Amino acid sequence: MPTMALDAAALEKLVSAAVAAPSIHNSQPWRFRLRPETSTLEVHAVRERALPSADPEGRALHISVGAAVRNLCTAASYLGRDPEVRLLPDPGEPDLLAVIELDRPSPVAASARTAELFAAIWRRHSARTPFTGPPVPPAVLDELAEAARAQDVQLHFPAGEERDRLLHLTAEAERRSTTDPERSAESRSWIQGPGAPPYGIPATALGPQDSAGRMPMRDYSAIHPAEHLPAAAFETEPCIAVLATAYDRPVDWLRAGTALEDVLLLATVHRIRASLLDQAMEWPYLRWEARDPRQGPGFVQLLIRLGYGAEGAATPRLSVADVLDTGPDRPRPAGAS
Ligand SMILES: Cc1cc2nc3c(=O)[nH]c(=O)nc-3n(C[C@H](O)[C@H](O)[C@H](O)COP(=O)(O)O)c2cc1C
Repeated sequence: MPTMALDAAALEKLVSAAVAAPSIHNSQPWRFRLRPETSTLEVHAVRERALPSADPEGRALHISVGAAVRNLCTAASYLGRDPEVRLLPDPGEPDLLAVIELDRPSPVAASARTAELFAAIWRRHSARTPFTGPPVPPAVLDELAEAARAQDVQLHFPAGEERDRLLHLTAEAERRSTTDPERSAESRSWIQGPGAPPYGIPATALGPQDSAGRMPMRDYSAIHPAEHLPAAAFETEPCIAVLATAYDRPVDWLRAGTALEDVLLLATVHRIRASLLDQAMEWPYLRWEARDPRQGPGFVQLLIRLGYGAEGAATPRLSVADVLDTGPDRPRPAGAS
């Protein structure tokens, strides 16, 4: 079978696609290691950029890394490769979250949809301002749910009382997090000041709170009124998607991340914006309450708010050279010193 070497240009493209993924508080908790003999990339968790208060088990960290793995695979498909992913390949090394073999050419040319998803990797940004457009068409919601199902992950769209119940749980979680000194200090520490390293969230990417108090957007500046944008009116009939898995193991969290990124990229292709609501997932009782038994015995991983509105602001990323270990005498990504 023919194999494809991984040259420096391909490596640069693949890893920059991976790092464009969303991550909790833009913590970018990933590191890549090249195994050139097999054109394989290992993806490792970076625990120094974890969130011990809000995410002690590393659930959100795994979701973030899952999203990065998915971007890498989308880029590989676009570049004519047939990536093979093994999640958590070594039980003795739990921080080795994925191994991606990239040496096989794809038997078919990249589809037009793959090209659109690849382009969306860099256009997708969290959008934390109010949505203003018409409702998201049901046919698009079906497509998003199908994209999640392809990764073995459920995506459903509660309406009416069930949606409001989830927003109430999120508001309660938000209240607990902003009044918990440890949690609020952790959250604030991820807001970037001038001259900060290229992770965390810049003030330009934050949004207002809902003047009607209905949409519980995360308060990153954690009740310091002077730092708040003026409150604004959010959509009165929000479109909320629930991302859920059948089990709740690290491998399920990684799969939730791969599904999340497929859903977000597809939404971007349809010009739909998204922001994420993780607050209720960060309090075990509230997370448990978020389950809807009518959807089966699953575990909620994330709420996604979808709609039409202004594009979110870009957030910084560590450079490819910062996150890629090529070892001595291995191809350096373009631009690395
Ligand atoms: C697991 C996970 C949880 C997140 N939770 C929230 C959240 O509760 N509120 C929020 O506004 N953004 C949330 N985000 C979005 C990140 O803050 C965002 O991805 C990061 O700042 C990078 O910005 P970008 O999405 O515009 O690239 C979450 C992202 C992930 C992957």
